[in-house]
Amino acid sequence: MTTRSSAELGCGPRGCLNLLSARVGQSSSVTGVDISADAVARAQAFAAGHGLSNVNVMRADAGSTGLPAAAFDLVTSRLLLVNIPAPARVVSEAVRLARPGGAVAFHEVDWGAVICDPPSTAWTELTGLYVKVTEENGIDCYIRRKLPRMLSDSPMACCPRKALPP
Ligand SMILES: C[S@@+](CC[C@H](N)C(=O)[O-])C[C@H]1O[C@@H](n2cnc3c(N)ncnc32)[C@H](O)[C@@H]1O
Repeated sequence: MTTRSSAELGCGPRGCLNLLSARVGQSSSVTGVDISADAVARAQAFAAGHGLSNVNVMRADAGSTGLPAAAFDLVTSRLLLVNIPAPARVVSEAVRLARPGGAVAFHEVDWGAVICDPPSTAWTELTGLYVKVTEENGIDCYIRRKLPRMLSDSPMACCPRKALPP
């Protein structure tokens, strides 16, 4: 697949912007999106400081970016869904932004895989507390395992889907 335009949702102060920039080449574009003004300013400085002239960073909610539909060959996001309530909004928006035949790629974690062997009482207590706090804040720390199904249920269901191991 030739990638001419890509978007990174929840790019933070750096995210994958440099990797995407190098991957798509100078004649293509990378759009970074983050809700935090501070992260946007830092990402813009990072892009400028590294000569990433094909990178633009904007402030927006990844669940409702205001960007045009079907505008990107690749829409990607890393460690955003596991940090926000209502992650399905972002999945829908990513699918909306990808052009037909384009790709949506999420890089997420699942706290079910956060284990300790040999067992540690302190570790079990710590992870239990983390899970409780995320639940109380509407955050799904088991989002990773649900992503293939969320994408299957999306309007992109006609496209191939792959769940890659971490
Ligand atoms: C854990 S950081 C990951 C940053 C980057 N993706 C990386 O992997 O380095 C999560 C980022 O998502 C951003 N974020 C949180 N909620 C968001 C939303 N609704 N829309 C866009 N960005 C959001 C935060 O400001 C933060 O920069």
